[in-house]
Order: sequence, then C-alpha cells, then structure tokens
Amino acid sequence: MSSSQTKTILVTGGAGYIGSHAVLALKEKGYNVVILDNLVYGHRDVAENNLKVELIVGETSDRALLDEIFKTRNIAAVMHFAAYAYVGESVENPAKYYRNNVVGTLTLLEAMQQAGINHFVFSSTCATYGIPETVPIPETHPQNPINPYGESKLMVERILRDFDTAYGLKSVSFRYFNAAGADPQGRTGEDHNPETHLIPLILLTALGKRNAIQIFGTDYPTRDGTCIRDYIHVTDLAQAHVLGLEYLLNGGESEVFNLGNGNGFTVREMIATAKEVTQRNFMVKETERRPGDPAMLIGSSEKARHVLGWQPEYANLSQIIDHAWQWHQKRHR
Ligand SMILES: NC(=O)c1ccc[n+]([C@@H]2O[C@H](COP(=O)([O-])OP(=O)(O)OC[C@H]3O[C@@H](n4cnc5c(N)ncnc54)[C@H](O)[C@@H]3O)[C@@H](O)[C@H]2O)c1
Repeated sequence: MSSSQTKTILVTGGAGYIGSHAVLALKEKGYNVVILDNLVYGHRDVAENNLKVELIVGETSDRALLDEIFKTRNIAAVMHFAAYAYVGESVENPAKYYRNNVVGTLTLLEAMQQAGINHFVFSSTCATYGIPETVPIPETHPQNPINPYGESKLMVERILRDFDTAYGLKSVSFRYFNAAGADPQGRTGEDHNPETHLIPLILLTALGKRNAIQIFGTDYPTRDGTCIRDYIHVTDLAQAHVLGLEYLLNGGESEVFNLGNGNGFTVREMIATAKEVTQRNFMVKETERRPGDPAMLIGSSEKARHVLGWQPEYANLSQIIDHAWQWHQKRHR
C-alpha cells in the first residue's frame, strides 16, 4: 500500500446518499475514513453496519468539534457533502440554506486553514447554472442560479476561489447532475426523507408505498413533452471523487468539473424503463408544470474524462434503475 493510500480523509455528510458511496470508494482504495454527519438526513445504521468507519455525529458549524477532529486525527483532505439540498424548501426558508450550506462550509474551511489542511473536494451542483443557454452544458456556461439552494453552492465555489488565491487551499468542485442508482453490492443507496428525486419516487410507487408517480408538465419542447434530465450512477460519481482527491494530493490546481452521463432521459422514458426493470405496473398522473423546471438539463463531462481520466462504468439506464431497485426492495421490506 502506498503512503497516499493510508491517508485519512474526513467525509462530511458521509452518512448520506452520495457521501456514503464516496466512503465505500475511498475504503476500496485503502484510505482511512472519518465521517462527520449531523444525522439530520444521514443514516446511522448504514454508517455503522455497512460502511464500518468512524462516525462522528456533529455539525460542520461546530468550530470546537472541527478543531478537535483536526488536532486528534491526521486528516489529509476533506470531502464535503454535508448540505441541505431541497430546492423548494430553499425558496421558502433561504436562511436555513445560507446558514448550513454557506456558513457551515465557511466554518469548516476556516478550521481547515488554521489546521494547515489544504485539500478540499466539494459537492456543487448543476443548479448553479440556472436555465441553460446551451445543452450539453459545459463548465464555462454562465452561472445564474434561480433558487437559494443553487446560490448557496455558487457562493461556496466563490469562497473556494478566494481561499485558493489568499491561502493556497486547493479544491475540486464537482457540479453534479442527477445522482442515481445505488451501490451494486447493496451496501448503501438512496433513502431521503422527504424524497423528491424521480427514481426513488418511481420505485416507491412500484413498491406500493406511494399511490402514483406524478409527471409535472407534458408540454415541454422535448421528444415526448416531458422534462429531460441527466442521470449519473452514484458509484461513478464516487469514483470521480477519489480521482479528484488524488489529483489534488498529487499537486493539482483548483478545478471545477461537471459530472453527468452526457445522456438525457425524459420522465416518460424513466417510468417506462422502471416498469420494465421492476416488472410492476403502477399509476402515473400527469399534472401541470412546476415553476422553475428547465425543459432539459444535460451536462458535458468531457473535462472530467480528459483531466481526471474518469470513465463512468454504469451509464446504462436500466442498470442504474436496477441497482436502485435492489436497494429499495431491501430497504423498504
Ligand atoms: N443527490 C443529487 O442528485 C445531488 C445533485 C447535486 C448536488 N448534490 C449535493 O451533494 C451532496 C450530497 O447530497 P445527497 O443527495 O447525498 O444528500 P443527503 O441529504 O443524503 O446527504 C447529506 C448529508 O449531510 C448531512 N448534513 C447536512 N448538513 C450537515 C451539517 N451541517 N453538519 C453535518 N452533516 C450535515 C445530512 O445528515 C446527510 O447525511 C449535497 O451537498 C448536495 O447538495 C446532490
């Protein structure tokens, strides 16, 4: 095992959906992992029984706790997933989002700076782009978020730019499109409460836990009138984080990368594929458009492929849904 593989990585939000997959990917590469999660949305049982790494229950805004973690564990880098991510809630309660996603992150970055930790991998989002002017969206696309959630993530991207200039803190920000699927070995998966993501909502309907799946808007200028989104397998997302981390540990400059599949699927296509995968029929309700939903969101991830050598392994939609289905059947037995 090389020395880089025995480094300890602090994963904030590591008991949540994407963070828990990153923990598995880090462990598989031989890293030590410490999770910091407030368990507001994270799952203690998954962290303790399936990830089997140290879980510290606490807040990214708790400076004394952060100082203690950095003093007592030899942390080489931080992967920062901890945030609130409900777009609608961010419109109704922006203070909650700016406090957690911006102030919490700033507290973490200040503690890192003081402790001399200079490598940071950040969960940003395609929501920082707002309504796309071109599709597929490149990293150079203008960033005009249309809700406080997207604003909060863009603010952190700006803070990271300035922390690099002033303090030499090197970061990789990943702007994800829609994370989807679950660990192929079934050790973790998506379990948000409340759930707002399309694939789990479809699968919960297939399981009979919900009455119907709603399609918001059938008159978009797309191939079947429903919105198109880019779904990326969460295990591929996690692999990109390890590559981003190693890029930084090897002396890479701060960078921003999109992470998507490069392929878009309509809501109707998602539902049809889920019916095939699950072999279940369920009710679909067509309703009005929701405000703020762009017709099409597809990302170009060429830069991550080129600079990081990232190669998504699970680009096939049926496979993404099948992995999620395996997880949901087990989780909601
Ligand atoms: N799911 C997606 O498709 C998607 C897309 C783009 C960006 N993101 C970003 O990726 C990250 C992870 O998203 P997810 O879907 O895994 O969400 P999640 O809610 O499952 O995970 C976030 C975790 O962070 C924890 N957390 C929140 N605030 C915290 C705080 N102040 N201190 C400690 N822990 C805290 C939660 O308990 C949870 O376990 C988020 O930053 C989100 O904004 C997600």
